[in-house]
Amino acid sequence: MTIQRTAVIGSGLMGAGIAEVLAKSGLDVIVREINDEASAAGRARIEKSLGRAVEKGKLDADARDTALSNLRFSTDIADLADRQLVIEAASENEDIKKSIFSELDGVVTDPEAILASNTSSMPIIRFAQSTSRPERVLGIHFFNPAPVQPLVEIVSSVLTAEEVRSTVTDFVSDVLGKKPVQAEDRPGFIVNALLIPYLCSAIRMLESGFATKEDIDTGMVNGCAHPMGPIKLADLVGLDTCLFAAQSMYEETGDLATKPPVLLSRMVDAGLLGVKSGRGFYEY
Ligand code: 3HC
Repeated sequence: MTIQRTAVIGSGLMGAGIAEVLAKSGLDVIVREINDEASAAGRARIEKSLGRAVEKGKLDADARDTALSNLRFSTDIADLADRQLVIEAASENEDIKKSIFSELDGVVTDPEAILASNTSSMPIIRFAQSTSRPERVLGIHFFNPAPVQPLVEIVSSVLTAEEVRSTVTDFVSDVLGKKPVQAEDRPGFIVNALLIPYLCSAIRMLESGFATKEDIDTGMVNGCAHPMGPIKLADLVGLDTCLFAAQSMYEETGDLATKPPVLLSRMVDAGLLGVKSGRGFYEY
């Protein structure tokens, strides 16, 4: 199957980035949002990032215009009927995601179509089981910022067909120009299984007064050559996303390294979500 007609559910931080990657790769993309306001915000996010790519010399103005012309926004899930690949990037809420997969199953007509989730850490099999075609469901997990980070985790559930896994792997490398890795449907897959305990540890270090956020970040940037320290990275990922990923990993594994720090919960309760809300541990 040659994938050309694609869709992304949600145009938040990750959804917008994924839609941008698909549109820049010459694919026809429908972004499904819940209302016109959310669609406008998603479009603005993509336009800003494409503008940045032009400024940085990564894209010329014609390619930016072509990418924008490949994108359409819709609030009606029925518009996704003819899609060959749909990537769900709604917020990290299992019930919301399950109901999206169930709706997609009723709407997408092509039996060969592939339904994917960009979840950070939730079990893919639960979304697969919300459809009548679990063998066509898998995880396609991008990293933030999606237009910049090369990695994509391909997450097969115990029911994903081998042909679906290999089609998506080829598509990610050959069409999107990204670096795919194969991950099991286990809490946190590969990267978040390592990253979430690290971010939680850094927040606990801050919470206990062990070190300042600036020193924690400087430590990892200047001591380990990370592009940004863990406190700033938590802000970039989104503190709500960090919390949901930690909660879901902790619930399933009981691993104390993934137990969400109280400070993280309080920040999210306060609406301090990081870069996307203008304030997290730092101000933006
Ligand atoms: N489009 C295309 N390219 C862009 C771009 C855009 N919108 N914005 C920046 N770039 C390119 C730049 O041209 C530059 O490329 P170069 O290295 O070839 O010159 C590169 O990206 C870095 O850009 P900058 O030097 O301008 O640095 P910024 O401050 O703008 O961005 C960063 C920094 C890319 C965010 C970098 O700090 C970084 O990589 N941080 C770590 C991010 C990370 O770890 N992400 C993973 C999070 S985990 C996750 O997402 C999983 C989830 O499930 C939790």
